[in-house]
Amino acid sequence: MVAKPLVSALRSVEVGLPDVAGAEAFFTTIWGLRVVARQGAAVYLRATGEDHHVLALHPAARTELRSVTLRSDSLADLQALALSVPAQGGELLRPPGPLEEPGGGQAIVVRDPQGRIIRAVCGDERHADTDGDADRPIRLAHAVLNSHDVAQGLAFYESAFGMRLADRTRIMAFIRIPRRPQGDHHSIALADADNDCLNHVAFVMPDLESVMRGGGRMKDAGYPIEWGPGRHGPGNNSFNYFVGPCGLVIEYTADVSQIDDAYPVRGPADWKWPAGRFDHWGISAPPSDRLKAAQRQVAFAPWPR
Ligand SMILES: [Fe+2]
Repeated sequence: MVAKPLVSALRSVEVGLPDVAGAEAFFTTIWGLRVVARQGAAVYLRATGEDHHVLALHPAARTELRSVTLRSDSLADLQALALSVPAQGGELLRPPGPLEEPGGGQAIVVRDPQGRIIRAVCGDERHADTDGDADRPIRLAHAVLNSHDVAQGLAFYESAFGMRLADRTRIMAFIRIPRRPQGDHHSIALADADNDCLNHVAFVMPDLESVMRGGGRMKDAGYPIEWGPGRHGPGNNSFNYFVGPCGLVIEYTADVSQIDDAYPVRGPADWKWPAGRFDHWGISAPPSDRLKAAQRQVAFAPWPR
């Protein structure tokens, strides 16, 4: 069953790290984010866009994903989620209520049927000073999450959140948040795996040039490109992937396709590269073994906390 959309954007991801200070230095001096708030030992980082923050860093014994935070347009949508999530096999961890953290707003916290902690927030603060910088991320592009059962996960995000399948490849289900007039080809993707860890988080850069310059900046800083430069098939976005601080896999991307309900959903038979090809241009080597290993190391933090 595909439901009415109850979310309108991917806002932020929250991670736990053993070296918050080191990660803060990395994300602010190399990656292009800025500190917007602190709360206790946690650091909140913004991009150049309107989102209050796109990344929160919390101290933890090991690198872990605390939550993925979506945005809803209204408290009514959060209240609808409080009904649809349990009805579709998820778990309501915290009913809609004030979010006591920088950015504020009202939020709901749920656990999906595969153990991921997902939050939806509405009425959170937005920035007005969104003048871009050619070498800083604008916002989050997508979070890719490994799944031991992609079909089950996809069904949940469609039926509980009203998200939609955009494309299915042999190993990935690309899931979009319906937006008018159009929205990103995908905001979440589920990757076939033997685990439910974080695969990677992607940040929107202004254009291809900034994705490429970012690759050079990272290389200079000791973070080689682990996959890329290249252009993806589904979504048609350009990419460079890196293993960031504390093993977090992060991507610079640009030019993701903007689509609507008229987009033809294609399947694995439609998304096959010729042998030996790993991107649309045919220039990228395959993902490095180091990248593939890092993409199965970051699990969701336990709840309650
Ligand atoms: Fe990606």
